[in-house]
Amino acid sequence: MRYLILSDIHSNDEALAAVLARVRRKRVDRVVVLGDFVGYGANPNQVIDRIRNVRKPKRLIRGNHDKVVCGVESGDLFNPVALQAARWTTDKLTARNLKFLETLPLGPASVDGAFAICHGSPRDEDAYIFTDYDAYLNFRETDAAVCFFGHSHVPCVFTLEPHGILVELVQGDRVRYALRKGLRYLINPGSVGQPRDRNASAAYAIYDAARSVVQFDRVPYPAEKARDKIYKAGLPHILGDRLLVGA
Ligand SMILES: [Fe+2]
Repeated sequence: MRYLILSDIHSNDEALAAVLARVRRKRVDRVVVLGDFVGYGANPNQVIDRIRNVRKPKRLIRGNHDKVVCGVESGDLFNPVALQAARWTTDKLTARNLKFLETLPLGPASVDGAFAICHGSPRDEDAYIFTDYDAYLNFRETDAAVCFFGHSHVPCVFTLEPHGILVELVQGDRVRYALRKGLRYLINPGSVGQPRDRNASAAYAIYDAARSVVQFDRVPYPAEKARDKIYKAGLPHILGDRLLVGA
C-alpha cells in the first residue's frame, strides 16, 4: 500500500491543489491527513471540499486549529493572530463543513495496522515534537514502529536507535528516505499550506509501507495568490507574508 501523507493544510487551497496535481499520476492507494485542515488561510470551505472529493479511501484526524474552529475547544491558548483567524474561519464555514470538523477523530490512530498517525504527538495531540527529548518521551510511552505526526510544520525524522535518537531535518525538494528494520520512527511530512522550514513550497510525503520507504516532496505553488486572498479577507497580513518565505 502507498499512502499519501498530508498535514497542516491550513485553508490554503492553492497549495493543496498543487500537491494533488503533483500526485495525480503517482500511484497512491489511500490519503491520510494529520489534521489542521483549516486556520490561517482564506479558503477553508474549498480545502475541506477538495479533500472530501478525493476519490480514494481516506484516514483523517483533527488538529488543534480544527478543534477551535468548530468549537470543540475554546482557543484560550491560541495567540491573538491564530485566534482571529480561527474566529474568521468559524464564521465562513458552511454548516456541513463545521460538522465535518466536529466529527474528525482525535489521534493517535492506527492506519490499516501498518503505522500510526497523530497531530502533534502520540502522547498529546496538542504537544509539539521538536527535540530528541520530546521524541524520546513519545517513543517510551507508545509502541508503534512508525508514526507520522504534524503540528510543527517542519519535515523531519526522529529515529530510535539502540544507543540514542537520531534527529534529521529533511532538506531539499525530493528526498527518498528508507526506513531500517528493527528501528522505530517518528516522521513529519511537513506542512502543505504553511511551511515553516524556510522553504515556501508545499510539503507532503508518500509512504510505501510494503517497501518501508518515505518519499518527501516539495511543490511550488502560487503563494502570492494565497497571500492576496488572506489580505482581501481581512485576515492578519502576517499570515499571508509568511507564506512567501516559508516561516
Ligand atoms: Fe498546524
